[in-house]
Amino acid sequence: MVEQILKASEEFGFFQVINHGIPENLMNQGMDVFKEFFEMPTEEKAMLYSEDPKKTCRLSTSSANYDWEKNHLWRDNLRHPCHPLEECIKDWPEKPIKYREVVATFSVEAKKLASRILEFISEGLGLESGYFRDKLSEELSLVVNYYPPCPDPSLALGFSKHCDPNLITILHQGDIYGLQVFKDGEWIGVEPLHNAIVVNIGNQLQIISNNKLKSAEHRVVTNSKVSRTTAAFFISPSDDTIIEPAKPLTDACNSPLYRPFEYKEFLRTFFSNMGNNDLALEPFKLQAKLSI
Ligand code: OGA
Ligand code: NI
Repeated sequence: MVEQILKASEEFGFFQVINHGIPENLMNQGMDVFKEFFEMPTEEKAMLYSEDPKKTCRLSTSSANYDWEKNHLWRDNLRHPCHPLEECIKDWPEKPIKYREVVATFSVEAKKLASRILEFISEGLGLESGYFRDKLSEELSLVVNYYPPCPDPSLALGFSKHCDPNLITILHQGDIYGLQVFKDGEWIGVEPLHNAIVVNIGNQLQIISNNKLKSAEHRVVTNSKVSRTTAAFFISPSDDTIIEPAKPLTDACNSPLYRPFEYKEFLRTFFSNMGNNDLALEPFKLQAKLSI
């Protein structure tokens, strides 16, 4: 299994997990409250709507850059932190009535699954057990995406091409198709597998693995028939964590490809180059040393 995870993370940057331990009824209950949330009347949701990125729990439309993005996205989203639970739960939506209870349990399970997967990845990379524990995976936040049916899917994307800036993402994509991954110049679909969890490698895991693992670009296409709701749990380092290629993975033959930096510095660059992964990574790259 460790080999399979590594192979998929090197080749695709994406894989799906079945028998992941998150109870099926919890996943269904989660999906139900997320759908119910977005189906509530506008007046019920209006107080959560905000364009202020500093607001911890907020509902917004399209991306974080609504005013300056070239094309708007066919997407609403709700985002909030999930850890530590006692601190953040008070800011979560109060409706639907079951939201807090269900999402609390779901987020604890998602964090547990992420920790297990990170442990397999550290084993596969040959890093010590617990390498990603603590600061590298301290933050957990949830983004619930709601993609309404789109009258003309050829004119709008649900989410344009991007890489996730964090360490690793745990996604419940439900049963409706829409997610695509860019590989070898082509978009390939991530076919929904009932109750599977989609996992993708974020920019920080690519950097820490010194480019062994791939943070793949992905996007979401729209459809004209049904709405699509997805829940993405983002596992991230805390803001002041120093990120750099793991020392055991670099030596005289494998020089580090990135300089050390604070995670918050990466986020700043990432959000000012929204959607362009090469530009986001550029300031952190080290020139390969050529020896003659
Ligand atoms: C994301 C994302 C995919 C989806 O939230 O970063 O890529 O299918 N979501 O909603
Ligand atoms: Ni993403």
